[in-house]
Amino acid sequence: MKPLYLMANWKSNKTIDEAMTWFSAIESHMAKRTLPDQVKIILCVPFTVSAILQEKIKKSNLPISLGVQNVSAFPSGAYTGEISAEMLKGLAEFVLIGHSERRRYFHETDEELFQKAKAAAASGLKTIYCVDAASVPIPDMPAMILYEPQSAIGSGNAEDPVVANSVCKQLLEKNQSIPVLYGGSVTEKTLKGFLTQPEISGVGVGGASLDPEKFLQMVDVMSSLCTDHQ
Ligand code: PGA
Repeated sequence: MKPLYLMANWKSNKTIDEAMTWFSAIESHMAKRTLPDQVKIILCVPFTVSAILQEKIKKSNLPISLGVQNVSAFPSGAYTGEISAEMLKGLAEFVLIGHSERRRYFHETDEELFQKAKAAAASGLKTIYCVDAASVPIPDMPAMILYEPQSAIGSGNAEDPVVANSVCKQLLEKNQSIPVLYGGSVTEKTLKGFLTQPEISGVGVGGASLDPEKFLQMVDVMSSLCTDHQ
């Protein structure tokens, strides 16, 4: 069975204390179970909690990869307030680029996003490139694509899994078969409908990933799907 990805995007949420509480809640549960190899968990967190979470994940030896949600298009240097890809070396494995909230609220253009993807690749970061349609330009180097229709993000109205599957299929065909994930109002209840589609390799989860209980339920759903197919 192909790997299945659960990519949590915390967006602009959680103080350090809140992030530690979340982690403690999942740590005790996850330490007790062995995840099937196909289940891949990526936690995309704010920069402010990334270092401390990385330390915690390492110490507890949990099968979680760490990601961040943005990176500068510029190299290290005199760019006040920016976090360059180089600065993320040894900290994050993944970076989200092109999320629709960054395109909408921060006016990030395809050109700037391509520069970010190039900078990320040069520093060895794996890009999760976000698009809201199969027609959106995608650079050559992402590790995976996250398809998120704007109407589904944060609205409670996830796209129909069959429709999402057909867009993911087009994205797969256009992009050398790199994994394509679906995101937009995925919850512990709707996750399975997406993961059982043939062209969808996983899900991106925002709101529902903030709650450790829901997050663990999603990990369980993924694990049982993989175990059933072994
Ligand atoms: P949502 O966000 O799950 O809260 O809809 C998904 C995302 O934007 O990554």
